Amino acid sequence: MTWAISRRAQQLTSSAIREILKVTERPEVISFAGGLPSPASFPVAAMEAAAARVFANDPTAALQYAATEGFLPLREFIAKRHNVEVDRILITTGSQQALDLIAKVLIDPGSPVLVETPSYLGALQAFSLFEPEFVSVPSDEKGLVPEALTPELTAGARFLYALPNFQNPTGRRLPLERRQALVAKAKELGVLLVEDDPYGELSYTGDHLPTLLSMNPDGVIYMGSFSKVLAPGLRLGYVVAPPALHFKLCQAKQAADLHTPTFTQRVAYETIKDGLLDTHIPTIRALYSKQCNVMLDALSRHMPAGVKWNKPEGGMFIWVELPEGLDSMAILEQAVARNVAYVPGAPFYASNPRLNTLRLAFVTVPAERIEQGVTILGDLLREAIAKAAPAARAA
Ligand SMILES: Cc1ncc(COP(=O)(O)O)c(C=O)c1O
Repeated sequence: MTWAISRRAQQLTSSAIREILKVTERPEVISFAGGLPSPASFPVAAMEAAAARVFANDPTAALQYAATEGFLPLREFIAKRHNVEVDRILITTGSQQALDLIAKVLIDPGSPVLVETPSYLGALQAFSLFEPEFVSVPSDEKGLVPEALTPELTAGARFLYALPNFQNPTGRRLPLERRQALVAKAKELGVLLVEDDPYGELSYTGDHLPTLLSMNPDGVIYMGSFSKVLAPGLRLGYVVAPPALHFKLCQAKQAADLHTPTFTQRVAYETIKDGLLDTHIPTIRALYSKQCNVMLDALSRHMPAGVKWNKPEGGMFIWVELPEGLDSMAILEQAVARNVAYVPGAPFYASNPRLNTLRLAFVTVPAERIEQGVTILGDLLREAIAKAAPAARAA
């Protein structure tokens, strides 16, 4: 018996990369592929104590159905941090759910949606289910190029999806002047900005650049997450939206899951309400900065000439560019055979993928394994470059 499935579900495909990367669960594989935060950064004891207090103080409310918008004290906490009215805040089941709700509320089949080049794969997947027409906005090593936004490129766009802080996959941070130019251009062209910011707190020096939201609260939907500052298993994120859109997002959320788990929201609030983030986040920054330096150092010693990479100022990723003509997807299988894994860059592009790119995640791998993995990768790339050279000369 075969069952009829929806046109939408028919578009869902398993990625070839996911299949190859399945083997990275083997302990001998040094994986720079996963995008997981470091378990060492989870405030386990503080959360355990907070959970006990939630059970002691108000157990039945913590186990009851609750408002779709989310737990009011948590919403107030977030509103204060972003200096916006609490009525604009919706708590979501991870910021990944916010991406899905935004897509549901804003995308019709064929709607133009502007995305960075490259962009977060999970957002491209969430949006794709609603059949947009992706329009890639050019980016350079500093991130999205605001001057590229013209009336022609942005015509009819439902929104522009932007990742200004330590972008997944490139680790890039959009400079202040570009943020200002982007917000001004979006206003001028009437384009709604969707700002995804799970890594904003992870600047290695602790400095902050203003969010797009702070520059134009009525023209920006902002997404935040507790995944990288507390723990991703909580599945706790939020979306800040102009009132009319907030209302629609709440309706979509109600249909999806009524509300984000009450218990989780209360435990998170109980964990952070007395200032834990102010002491905890600096420890994550220090850890990730150290890990990043270990990888940058290893790359500079082991990568062959012609391979380039960026030096992130925060976050969890380094973006690598191989010499033109090399395909990181084709090389991945050989890398995995030698027990090293990364994510090829191609799936992060909505159109015209650059096959010679790849993403390295460095926060969960111990320093000596980073050294070992980068050594193996360097040898492999040296061989690949040598093999490709005669072909390039012949072409
Ligand atoms: C850019 C970006 N947005 C959103 C998410 C989803 O995060 P969560 O649903 O855990 O809040 C991730 C996860 O890695 C991400 O990298």
